Amino acid sequence: MNIYQRLKQDHTKQRELGKKILKTSGDSDQRNTLFAEYKAELTAHANAEEQTLYAALIEKPEGQEEAQHSVAEHKELADLIEDLENTDMAHGAWLQKFEKLDHEVVHHVDEEEEDVFPLAKKLIDDETAEHLADKFEKRKAMQTND
Ligand SMILES: [Fe+2]
Ligand SMILES: [Fe+2]
Repeated sequence: MNIYQRLKQDHTKQRELGKKILKTSGDSDQRNTLFAEYKAELTAHANAEEQTLYAALIEKPEGQEEAQHSVAEHKELADLIEDLENTDMAHGAWLQKFEKLDHEVVHHVDEEEEDVFPLAKKLIDDETAEHLADKFEKRKAMQTND
């Protein structure tokens, strides 16, 4: 497995979790549980991704712009998550805000798969891409156990 295959597994999970949360209502146990899982997944994924794929990409002059763009989007997503945490789940505004977050997450992972990965495949050799997948796994596990 290489880093691109590993990251896609998480992206698929994120898209699925987002769809499930869109179907929840009010301050329910289901919404609370799924959103806690979604937040932990997105946060650990983004941090581990920055420590692996983007750390490698930013070292390459041709990769810097895309890496900086993606890292800036991680910050925007983290801000949206924080805003949601400060919003009452029982209120209709929560779902409106979640719809925006979900839309931004889907946009972000689509962009990574369609733009960032093809560029990274040109700049990062295959052996490194395999090694980065192992490193991602370890780094993500460390985040999740915090
Ligand atoms: Fe990302
Ligand atoms: Fe990602």
